[in-house]
Amino acid sequence: MNKLRAAITGIHAFAPDYLLTNEELATMVDTTDEWILTRTGIKTRHILKGEGKGTSDMGAEAVKGLLQKTNTSPNEIDLVTCATVTPDMQFPATANIIADKAGIKNAFHFDMNAACSGQIYALTTASMYIESGKYKKVIVVGADKMSSIVDYTDRATCVIFGDAAGAMLLEPTTEDVGIIDSIHQSDGSGRIHLHHKAGGSLKPASRETVDAREHYIYQEGQAVFKFAVSKMVDVSVEMMKKHNIEPEDLAWLVPHQANLRIIEATARRMGINREQVMINIERYGNTTSATIPLCLWEWENQLKKGDKVILAAFGGGFTWGSIYMKWAYDGKKE
Ligand code: UT7
Repeated sequence: MNKLRAAITGIHAFAPDYLLTNEELATMVDTTDEWILTRTGIKTRHILKGEGKGTSDMGAEAVKGLLQKTNTSPNEIDLVTCATVTPDMQFPATANIIADKAGIKNAFHFDMNAACSGQIYALTTASMYIESGKYKKVIVVGADKMSSIVDYTDRATCVIFGDAAGAMLLEPTTEDVGIIDSIHQSDGSGRIHLHHKAGGSLKPASRETVDAREHYIYQEGQAVFKFAVSKMVDVSVEMMKKHNIEPEDLAWLVPHQANLRIIEATARRMGINREQVMINIERYGNTTSATIPLCLWEWENQLKKGDKVILAAFGGGFTWGSIYMKWAYDGKKE
């Protein structure tokens, strides 16, 4: 019998209605549509508005849609894991809250914090629960309300991020599809370039930390950019070499959507065409844990069983990695 693998058997995503345009941002900070577009590739981002709404609300919408489109009962789910850097609260895990809101009663749940690589770290972790043979239906959520930690007076970061959530169903298969390999790496010394200064145990929230605007994303853009390009490229090329994947064999690269220039550099070095790359950064911006599921959801119609797909991400930590899979079904499940 073939090795037991985990396959994505359904995907759904949710993006809130409100569209924050470059034009609106230009009324808030000293920026222009032209700067944002040429430096990042972003035109609009979705923002979750409304009192009392957090990351879990978007995650729960994605999960409920996923259960419906895959005809799965909430009672069948064994595990829910949620990649996020914007949990509803420090604890409990946002995965606990999402599962509760989606009516999932028989599963255990935990969060994964690997910043923009969170979704692929969570996917690899979840796939191992399936490969163990013990768990049959696992949901991997990637959800972030980045607007809750963006400083809308800082033009270098506020133009980049958006809010969204995506959810994937993983199930076992013995067919020649599913997740074949993953490469993950981290370097904690990179934390100096990208972090959230206050609100953790190192520097608990205080009047001073609020006054100093330390509850927002701190990013040294250029330094992060350099690492992001070299690490996303390295890990994607390494995956191709390891599995003898020629550029023309690859159906899709699904890159984390941080900056169009990072995506284009990665594709160039992999020797693939723009037509082989899922890119929707212009409409969503960087939604951190949700970028990869948002892409797969939007391209679900075009995906075919057996398609060779590489996912690649880089993010705070630093964290980075890639996953190689063969897509498990044809077209949209709706
Ligand atoms: O998601 C995971 C991790 N994150 C990333 O991968 C993000 C990586 N970094 C980036 O994508 C880019 O570095 C940014 C988009 C954040 C910034 O682009 P950049 O081309 O690296 O710009 P920069 O930081 O080098 O700034 C160049 C100039 C500066 O002005 P001076 O000092 O040359 O006069 C900035 O002050 O652009 C200025 N600038 C802006 N100007 C207009 C910075 N932000 C803006 C803005 N509008 N929004």
